Amino acid sequence: MGVRFKGWGIAVPDRVVTNEELSKTLDTSDDWIAERTGIRERRIGGSARTLGALAGKRAMDDAFVEPSDIDFLVLATTTPDRIAPATAPMVANDLGLTCPAMDVNAACSGFMYAIRTAQGLLETGNKRILVIGSEHLSRWVDWSDRNMAVLLADGAGATVLEYDPNDTDVLSFCLGADGSAADLLTCEHGGYFEMDGKEVFRRAVRVVVDSAEKALEIAGISADDLSLVIPHQANIRIIQAATQRLGIEMERAVVVLDRYGNTSSASIPLAFDDARQNGRIKPGEYALMTGFGAGMTWASAIVRWS
Ligand code: ACO
Repeated sequence: MGVRFKGWGIAVPDRVVTNEELSKTLDTSDDWIAERTGIRERRIGGSARTLGALAGKRAMDDAFVEPSDIDFLVLATTTPDRIAPATAPMVANDLGLTCPAMDVNAACSGFMYAIRTAQGLLETGNKRILVIGSEHLSRWVDWSDRNMAVLLADGAGATVLEYDPNDTDVLSFCLGADGSAADLLTCEHGGYFEMDGKEVFRRAVRVVVDSAEKALEIAGISADDLSLVIPHQANIRIIQAATQRLGIEMERAVVVLDRYGNTSSASIPLAFDDARQNGRIKPGEYALMTGFGAGMTWASAIVRWS
């Protein structure tokens, strides 16, 4: 039994905010941000609903499917437009879907958690599922806090997954959560994102490496077999540290955080789409998708591109 990726789509706001622009209102600099994070600019604007609907529409067009072809919408977001209703039913309405629709919140691991959820739904009778990761992080940023303002941004990415009784594009998963680390990265009701950056960094490298190794083992392949690593885009130094420990050269990692910053559950589909557009993954090749985020949560998967 299996899961096939049938189409992809992304959406980012038009408004580009450069490090230079942030340096005008914050005690920071392009050099500090670029050196410590790898980020040079980010996109700001829209909402989880508008960005999610646009990415979802593009993924459906790419997959050549109609609204009536979609059996379920799973939308990953840590920044829903409202506490209630969930963002997914509103996005479903925008897309002309009449199927069930729900949000998943696993912070920056959200897109991978949504894929895992969709896999279960496909294996229990649904034919086609739209998975979207959409974030409006800028709404929950204190723009006078240089710790967070330089990192977080807005965007969305989506894929259409289809059931295939004969083969699968997703070979393995390794997901996890550790609520004892919940206070390391938080956003209270009506508040702003706050983070113990150093501790998140330390733990992020560890959970990415551990979960990637388990996902490789379950898939029965080694790190040498991977053509690409598609990591959550939080900090270039986290990606460098994790790939180095896995014995993977940086050339095999997809990096889009220089252009998009940290877009939480949108970052893995934004990176995957970039790799696809640039012909970096070919049929039959293996890729590791891996993310971590507030919770703490983490998720790695081995996929084979068809
Ligand atoms: N500009 C200039 N200086 C700054 C800035 C800034 N934007 N931010 C912090 N500094 C200063 C600090 O005050 C500190 O100054 P001091 O030495 O005088 O005390 C100095 O720079 C070093 O600060 P550190 O916090 O030690 O910097 P570090 O190298 O750890 O980088 C960072 C900070 C980028 C936040 C890093 O720790 C990190 O990336 N952590 C992980 C973040 C992450 O992955 N988050 C996941 C989010 S996922 C989600 O769910 C949304």
